[in-house]
Amino acid sequence: MAQLWGGRFTGKTDEMVYQFNASIGFDQRLLPQDIRGSKAHARMLAKQGIIQEEEAARLIEGLDRILADVEAGTLPITTEYEDVHSFVEANLIDRIGEVGKKLHTGRSRNDQVALDMKLYVRDEVDAIILELQQMREQLHAMMKEHLDTYMPGFTHLQKAQPVTLAHHLGAYFEMFSRDRENLCFARSMMNTCPLGAGALAGTTYPLDRAATAEELGFDGPTRNSMDSVSDRDYLILTLSSLSMIMMHLSRFSEEVILWNSNEYQFVEIDDAYSTGSSIMPQKKNPDVAELVRGKTGRVYGALMSLLTTMKGIPLAYDKDMQEDKEVTFDALDTVKICLTLFRGMLSTMKFRKDRMRQSAKNGFTNATDVADYLVGKGVPFRDAHGITGRLVLACIEKGIALDDLSLEEYQAFCPLIEEDIYEAISMENCVARRTTYGAPGPEMMKKIIEINEGELARTRGEA
Ligand code: ARG
Repeated sequence: MAQLWGGRFTGKTDEMVYQFNASIGFDQRLLPQDIRGSKAHARMLAKQGIIQEEEAARLIEGLDRILADVEAGTLPITTEYEDVHSFVEANLIDRIGEVGKKLHTGRSRNDQVALDMKLYVRDEVDAIILELQQMREQLHAMMKEHLDTYMPGFTHLQKAQPVTLAHHLGAYFEMFSRDRENLCFARSMMNTCPLGAGALAGTTYPLDRAATAEELGFDGPTRNSMDSVSDRDYLILTLSSLSMIMMHLSRFSEEVILWNSNEYQFVEIDDAYSTGSSIMPQKKNPDVAELVRGKTGRVYGALMSLLTTMKGIPLAYDKDMQEDKEVTFDALDTVKICLTLFRGMLSTMKFRKDRMRQSAKNGFTNATDVADYLVGKGVPFRDAHGITGRLVLACIEKGIALDDLSLEEYQAFCPLIEEDIYEAISMENCVARRTTYGAPGPEMMKKIIEINEGELARTRGEA
């Protein structure tokens, strides 16, 4: 046990308590952030005359060497330390001696860990924003390719009206664009620097908090020292955005699983993204999509876990907050891998246009268009709806599609129907005539794709 706080104690910590309390097992991933924050702190202490310039230089050099050695694998992070902060400080003192003990001047582990977490999560959020950008680029490319790939649109999982694959994918483009905005907002909410807030009430040293905030890439220092060490709102905001990403990925997964099933056969998932069965030789399972759908639970769980952890905590720092780490790390890791693999699956998936088109034709998806045709002939919509319903029933009895009724049969239901009905209810026309803003008609879709193009260019440059 290498502890930073032995002075006040006469007895030894119970071994199980020590283990229970320790966070080194999971907070060691904050090492680069911890070192970065400590270097900024040391530099600022010297600039403010709190320590000597030469002392700061030795601290910084020692900190750099610790990171280099850990990365080179020559310095293992062991459970003999309570947390990553203790590990760094103890090693620093071992290496550079007495001066190492000056690093923690005007600082507490409370503002230190708040800083480390913000630095870590900020980088991860940036990486996920990039992943989302790539997902949107992928969808965009697919949309351009599938402007005339017809498929049924569903409501209640019942065939409703024909759409195109471009339009269907466009829905996910919108979702991932919103996800991106959500994460950008969460990022802006975390971009204030808690360093210098001390344990909870600032310090008596003349710290320059603006300088460390600037060096570490923050918009400025946090404005209330108690809030600084106890704010985990930005994590909850991040986890909520991550939950929403998973919800979208999960819905998409569910569709891919259905589309890949023997009943649908709309798509074929590439071998690289499928797995087999140990007993049934014919199987090719959509495991990636299923796992993405399944892992949604643990990301929601992270959000619920942290919301619950935070709800009864009095100001300022309490050890409960150490529980923010594992769930957040897990959620970030999960979302990253899910986005990457889902995109890989999507980009290698084959769409069976013939099957999709056939399916759109079979389910009376052009029934609304028959009704609209009758409206065009002067029939009030409610009556047109009734006539079309009876036509559909007749088709069901005969086992045919609306397109297959003869003109005589049509006219028996409504004498206003003429030869032009066939053209009006063809799949191409059903889709092409849907030209309202945001509708699937290819002309409208081209406009939306152009708008998306602009949006992608705008967001490409940003993190
Ligand atoms: N491991 C702790 C955490 O993650 C670091 C802060 C400890 N602060 C303290 N006062 N014990 O929250």
